[in-house]
Amino acid sequence: MSEVRARDPGVVTFDGPAASGKSTVAERVAAVLGVPCVSSGLLYRVATLLATGAGAALDDADAVLSVLDAHAVELRPGLGGDAVRVDGDDVTAALHSDAVDAAVSRVAAHPAVRAWVDARLREMPRPFVIDGRDMGSVVFPDAAHKFYLTAAPEVRAARRVGERAADLADVADAIRRRDALDARQLAPAPDAQHLDTSALDLDQVVEWVLGRLSVAATP
Ligand code: C5P
Repeated sequence: MSEVRARDPGVVTFDGPAASGKSTVAERVAAVLGVPCVSSGLLYRVATLLATGAGAALDDADAVLSVLDAHAVELRPGLGGDAVRVDGDDVTAALHSDAVDAAVSRVAAHPAVRAWVDARLREMPRPFVIDGRDMGSVVFPDAAHKFYLTAAPEVRAARRVGERAADLADVADAIRRRDALDARQLAPAPDAQHLDTSALDLDQVVEWVLGRLSVAATP
């Protein structure tokens, strides 16, 4: 007999590759639902920022973990987006640099670092919308609703270039590299609803999601 597990009504997950639009869509959907939005990638990013700042060898999980243990890291979900504090200081603005982008997958590859992130996410008060790579598959397998958003690499690169001043070909290369490094985390949950957003704009994607949540897009 197959196991029937209760759904966690307070969690909606958005997973998918880098620059697939999942964070922006998650934020918009959270705003409509009136619940906080959490970006799980921020915890991997702050782990990377701290480890590189301390000069730790990024391929050494123990070295990275001992840096993390030396600091009080706090993820604060908010209605206008989430913030990360380290020892009381807000470091959110430093988490989306090219240097962190380039190193974060190495840090995120360590099972011990993943366990450190997952423990912080699971203790957050419900309800919330959360985005990442393995939110529906690993961290919140009982989430009430799971979405998996993808887009062609060129489309994702073009969207990223719109966010940061950079060359399209360089960004496309960086995205492909990160996809390859993140491949293990990228397997979608078997019960996730998939959408390829390549040919859709943000409003269309948000409406598609809200339709599946049975919520109207605009008042
Ligand atoms: O989503 P974001 O681009 O901020 O994630 C940064 C990095 O953190 C990803 O490239 C990936 O290496 C890691 N990550 C992860 N699992 C998650 C979220 C992010 O491995 N759930």
